[in-house]
Amino acid sequence: MTGPAIPPAAEQERTGGGLFVTFEGGDGVGKTTQAALLDTWLSERGRTVVRTREPGGTEVGELIRDIVLHHRGDIAPRAEALLYAADRAHHIATVVRPALERGEVVIQDRYLDSSVAYQGEGRQLKPTQIRDLSLWATGGLLPDLTVLLDLDHGVARGRLDADDKPFDRLEAEREEFHARVRERFLAIARAEPERFLVLDASRPASDLAADIRARVEALLGGVPDARGSVGAHG
Ligand code: TYD
Repeated sequence: MTGPAIPPAAEQERTGGGLFVTFEGGDGVGKTTQAALLDTWLSERGRTVVRTREPGGTEVGELIRDIVLHHRGDIAPRAEALLYAADRAHHIATVVRPALERGEVVIQDRYLDSSVAYQGEGRQLKPTQIRDLSLWATGGLLPDLTVLLDLDHGVARGRLDADDKPFDRLEAEREEFHARVRERFLAIARAEPERFLVLDASRPASDLAADIRARVEALLGGVPDARGSVGAHG
């Protein structure tokens, strides 16, 4: 089976008028719910949305996802970091950049900040090196907006247990690991305030969705209403 054409690495400057929105935070904080709500809101208003995720999001990525999340033995931390970076390189080149070049909105569960938090902080590799690795892998692509859903891991874990999720190597880490990951996410957001919207994920989902919509609408310079007429905020 032939997949999409993969652009050469030299042609990776950002072009096109798309919007790249990522959702970050620990497991069980509600990223997928918020990504879905934003997708629906934009799609109903005529925007073409690509919903995707890392790890995964491509055929190759789903194979890598299976290794990093479900392999039962140890994986050396640097190997784990490279697997996430490999998934990301392929995903950005074949799915995300083409969509942005077509002017579409990409809504993505997790991106390079997850690597900085989980591999850089959690696995105690150097966060700056992990960030540089992802920037190399993606030709330097940063999101226009990153929504960080912040929640205590104990609370989030309660939600996951209720969902009866399958074994996940990262999720199986100790409480202390997840506390460090959470702090690193918050530190990344403090360092790049323009890119981030940090929200207290214990708030009602509908309130969070409204805050996210407001930020996205500002970035898009107004969004038409659901009937397709010009936005009330123009
Ligand atoms: P996720 O897809 O959010 O899991 P689920 O769909 O089961 O909620 O993420 C899978 C795990 O991968 C999560 O524990 C965080 C981890 N992860 C990293 O450690 N580094 C990364 O770069 C990414 C993208 C995810």
